[in-house]
Amino acid sequence: MQVVILPSAAEVGRTAAAKIAQVIERRPDAVLGLATGSSPLAIYADLAERVRQGRLRVGAVRAFALDEYVGLAPSHPQSYHHVIRRTVTEPLGLSPELVHVPDGAAADLEAAAADYEAQIRAASGVDVQILGIGANGHIGFNEPTSSFASRTRIKTLAPRTRADNARFFDAAEDVPTHCLTQGLGTILDARELVLVATGEAKAEAVHAMIEGPLSSMCPASALQLHPHALVVLDEAAAARLELADYYRYTYENLPAWQRFAPGEHP
Ligand code: GLP
Repeated sequence: MQVVILPSAAEVGRTAAAKIAQVIERRPDAVLGLATGSSPLAIYADLAERVRQGRLRVGAVRAFALDEYVGLAPSHPQSYHHVIRRTVTEPLGLSPELVHVPDGAAADLEAAAADYEAQIRAASGVDVQILGIGANGHIGFNEPTSSFASRTRIKTLAPRTRADNARFFDAAEDVPTHCLTQGLGTILDARELVLVATGEAKAEAVHAMIEGPLSSMCPASALQLHPHALVVLDEAAAARLELADYYRYTYENLPAWQRFAPGEHP
């Protein structure tokens, strides 16, 4: 796992975006894995700016979102269909027909989950998966005790997740109780992972993910199993890391061939 600690949330977004842009430059029809939540917004804003300036072409880019609430129509402003369209597809100018979100409004949710897995397989898998982390260590909506082998399926949201996400809804009870989410096994199949976290509310989960034991109690610890996982943090999210100085030293001394964005590293 490569851990990068940066002074500000803005730099976290810029640096993670540089990594994603590199993947797209190498493969114009790259398959991106998209996360919702506030954490990746700076990545999407940076990528949109690159597109606007003509530095990045995304017309052929394909994308799969991690998850969706069950029971919200795609037109609901808090459905992840809507959020992905608003924060990713439209600002970047992705082709809408190439952007996929699990169908949380399907009559047969199990069939919708199986179909989503099949769509990802048909696209030859995800090249780079963008991730945030929940305060309880979830990725996607894989709540604590999710199987490391899990695939896209229906999950019950943890009370803490519903409380954390209540800020997006008119009332706490409006937050759906269930979701469709890619499984930890699905996420681990992506060829590269890029997780971003900022703010002190994430410090404990970040510590458990990177330095804690591999445990389904912290689903994000699954990243320890992945050979190409990049974690980009601000100082507040990194505050509990025991080996923070080692991660800084490693990043400052990266050999040129390991740098994913020449000229954008310190
Ligand atoms: C949400 C999403 C996750 C996201 C997490 C953290 O519920 N399902 O994909 O990473 O919670 O969100 P935020 O980045 O807003 O803290």
